[in-house]
Parts: sequence; structure tokens; C-alpha cells
Amino acid sequence: MAETPEVLRRTMKMAKRPLLQVLAGETLSPPPVWLMRQAGRYLPEYRAVRATQPDFIAFCLNPEAAAEVTLQPIRRYGFDASIVFADILLIPHAMGQKVWFEKGEGPRLASLSLQDLAKLSPEGAADRLSPVCETLKRVRAGLPDACTLIGFAGAPWTVATYMIEGAGSKDRWKARSAAWSDPATMDRLLANLADATADYLIAQAHAGADVLKIFESWAEGLPAPLFDRVVIAPTRRIVERVRAAGITAPIIGFPKGAGPHYVHYAQETGITAIATDHGLDTGWAVANLPASMPVQGQLDPAVLKAGGKALESEVRRLLDAWAGRPYVFNLGHGINPDVPPENVGALLAHIRG
Ligand code: CP3
Repeated sequence: MAETPEVLRRTMKMAKRPLLQVLAGETLSPPPVWLMRQAGRYLPEYRAVRATQPDFIAFCLNPEAAAEVTLQPIRRYGFDASIVFADILLIPHAMGQKVWFEKGEGPRLASLSLQDLAKLSPEGAADRLSPVCETLKRVRAGLPDACTLIGFAGAPWTVATYMIEGAGSKDRWKARSAAWSDPATMDRLLANLADATADYLIAQAHAGADVLKIFESWAEGLPAPLFDRVVIAPTRRIVERVRAAGITAPIIGFPKGAGPHYVHYAQETGITAIATDHGLDTGWAVANLPASMPVQGQLDPAVLKAGGKALESEVRRLLDAWAGRPYVFNLGHGINPDVPPENVGALLAHIRG
């Protein structure tokens, strides 16, 4: 008998990955589960590796260390998916804006005018992030077959807010006012970010990412015309470029805090599946998001910190609300560093029974 071709063998294995099944539209009970920021400071084994990596950007670009921390939560909990350890701020770094992390404070970026930011070229940025692709290859080699590998990037607007503000900010005042006062320059920056990000996601898919996720962490607080221009249009540009490159991997979009704009985002960007935050009303989401579109989320990370009966009843509420729909269990945002690791074990027990 002829040998099974490698590509067919790979497809047959992938068909058994629960996350991929749900992203293809199947309903599974229990649903597949993974957690945003599942590799992180709540795990002692992460903190031990972090202690050897003082420079966070260098850590993200160190395939050996990054692969190790990516695999840690898989070994400990057996999640259905693994998300590569990296950061959304690698794109500004690769385009030439200095990025660093202040201990206990978060990201800082060199102060540049909007005009200067819009001159940063997308050319070559993805190539400079090739260590992340090396991490993906190493992680895939260490993952169980049933575990899906997720690659990701930040969405242009969210990344631009950090580039313009120079740090995280409460209301993105500088970025929003720049979007209104100088739309041409802002749109150029967003288009450049979209092109660098598309190249980077394409490279991640070629390196073995089965799924791609776009984090729009700052979709909150935008009036409709701005939401269309700075969130929808650049995201659609990324999806179109990734598809034009022949990449068929499902794409999860996460417009955190978008409220009623979630519907428009789901319909207009071309994404495969939508990740929801904990502030979005579940009943509204069930009624208004496209019924055939896979949905991921929306456990409050604070209930994971609380644990106990509150955790159990919130898990039940979400499982009941999304029963009969293609659903992926996840948080509405990343795990906080103060979450007790045993609560994550309890969460999995509640979901998997
Ligand atoms: O396990 C995973 O989810 C994969 C790794 C991952 C990280 N960052 C590692 C990280 C992912 C998917 C991200 C995405 C990311 N990074 C986002 C989008 C998701 C979100 O949280 O809204 C954003 C906005 C960033 C930018 C960023 N990186 C901030 C604001 C911070 C500081 C805040 C904090 O939590 O300390 C980071 C640092 C960061 N990225 C850490 C990790 C594990 C903590 C850094 C540390 O170990 O000191």
C-alpha cells in the first residue's frame, strides 16, 4: 500500500484538534478551553524563567526560553490550545521604534511624532521577528497532537495607541485626537502597521501556527465613524492580505470593549471567529452575534481569582448560554498575576467534568 503523504497525515491529525473543530463550526461538549496569558506570572515556573531574562523584548525573541514558557501551561493543565509566547509590541520594535518594559509599570516606547511614526516602514519587519517563527516550530515539536497552536499579533489601532501614547493609557486621548485631527497621517500609520502585521501573521502560519489571533485590546470608547476607520478597515486589510497569501488558518478577532460594535466587527472584518470580553452582555451576544460564527470567551478574570462557588456558577452560566453554538471557553481578558494556579485547575475540572 502506498505511504500516506505527509500533508494528508498532517491534515488527519489536525482534524482531531478540538479547537480547530469548533473554529470550523462544530459544537463540542465540553468545549475546548485555553486562557489568554496562560503563560505568565501566576505560574512559579514562568517566574523562574523570567528571572533569567531581564530584558522582556529579548525574552520574546529567545526561541528556547519563549518555547519553554509557552509549553509550561500545557504541561501543567493540558489546555486545548497553546498561544506562542511573544508580545503585540514586537511590531513597533521591528519597525524601528524603541520599546522597553519598566519593572512593575508596563511598556514604554520612545517618543516620536505621528509624522515620524507614519514614516516607519513595514518592509522587513516580519523578517526581524523570525525568532518568533523559530519559537513556533519548537513549540509544535513539543505539543501533543490534539493541541492547537495559536500565533498572534496586535491589531493596528491598539498597537498605534501604544506607539503614540508611549505607554498604556487610560483613555487613548492622544491617539484619538490624532485620528480626528490628522486622519491622512493616522491612516498611513495604520496601513503600514496592517501590512507589517499581515506579513508577520503569514510567517507565523508558515512556521506552524494552526490559528491566528488579532488582539484589538483598545476597541473600547470609539464612536462609530472612528471604529470603522481605525478598527474595521485596518483589520480587514490584514485579513485580506493573509488570505491573498493563500493562508487558510482560522482567524480569531478580539475587539475588547467594542460593545454593540461587536456585530459590525464580526460581519465586516472577514474574521473566522470572535473573542468576547467579560463586559459584553452574554444574552445580547447570543442574540446578536452571527449564529454560525464561533465565539470564544468571556469569563471574568476576577472570578478566576475568586475561585470557589462563584467560579463554578459562572462556568455553568457560560456553558449553558453558549450550549448548541460553536464555543471556545476562555477568559474575557488575560489572567492576572495574582490568580492562584490551583484555581485554573478547578476551572478545567468544572468545564471538563
Ligand atoms: O500566554 C499568552 O497569552 C501569550 C503571550 C502574550 C503576552 N502578551 C505576554 C506578556 C500575549 C498574547 C500578549 C498580548 C498583549 N501584550 C496584549 C494584548 C492582550 C491584552 O492583554 O490586552 C497587550 C495589550 C500587550 C502589551 C503588554 N505586554 C502590556 C500592556 C504588558 C504589561 C502589562 C503586564 O501584564 O505586565 C505586557 C507584558 C507582558 N506580555 C507580560 C506577558 C507574560 C508580563 C511581563 C512580565 O513577565 O513581566
